[in-house]
Amino acid sequence: MASIGIFDSGCGGLSVYKELVKLLPNERYIFFADNAHCPYGDKSAQYIQDRARFISDSLLQQGADIIVVACNTATAAAIATLRREYPSVPFIGMEPAVKPAALGTRSGVIGVLATAGTLKGSKYLKMRGLYEDGVKIAEHVGQGFVELVEGGKLDGPETEATVRASVQPLLDQGADIIVLGCTHYPFLRPVIERVAGPGVQVIDPAPAVARQTLRVLQERNVPIGQGPFSLSLQASGSPSPLKTLLPLVTQPTD
Ligand code: DGL
Repeated sequence: MASIGIFDSGCGGLSVYKELVKLLPNERYIFFADNAHCPYGDKSAQYIQDRARFISDSLLQQGADIIVVACNTATAAAIATLRREYPSVPFIGMEPAVKPAALGTRSGVIGVLATAGTLKGSKYLKMRGLYEDGVKIAEHVGQGFVELVEGGKLDGPETEATVRASVQPLLDQGADIIVLGCTHYPFLRPVIERVAGPGVQVIDPAPAVARQTLRVLQERNVPIGQGPFSLSLQASGSPSPLKTLLPLVTQPTD
């Protein structure tokens, strides 16, 4: 059985946990939501690196074989530091799925929704540089999205208006694919899809990240598939957002 540590600034990372547990249903999961320090999106890289180090220490002390940084912003700010400081630990990161979007667009315009921290990170800027000759890449911060998800406000007039304010500018520029570049945003996917309309495809990189996690565990010969499944949910702040969202990422057979 593999011990899989996962962390995010809050409960957004549960959208990644959902994909992990589909692919790896018999492992031990330790999920840490750093919600006392959420959002990360407007924090300095130094601040996020300090948090990422503290959380990684805790996950490793609890026996994690691998750490999934289930947060685009923390990946942008801290994964290079983590890999340097913990050279024997495999870290799996998130990044906006620009490549499949660039390959799939028919309008020649893709939209990226992410936090300010992700959009200004060198990882993202480098990736954007690889594709922006062939396609136009429109970007927008999902302003207020993280707060809505942490507050469990996943639909309703306020949520729809907040989502529209960030999605409409992408549509106005002609985007026919929208990339979810923050792990909180998949919880708003039904609203994003409703606002964007049927002609627009929404892409979440979480399934690809789950497949990458499986590949790395196999490469390292970590025994998998033997069970028993377990999940430890931990939070630096209130545990209630996790409790509210967990049923949405748990399969009906559980
Ligand atoms: N869930 C996070 C991400 O993927 C961060 C949201 C935030 O804390 O600003 O970027």
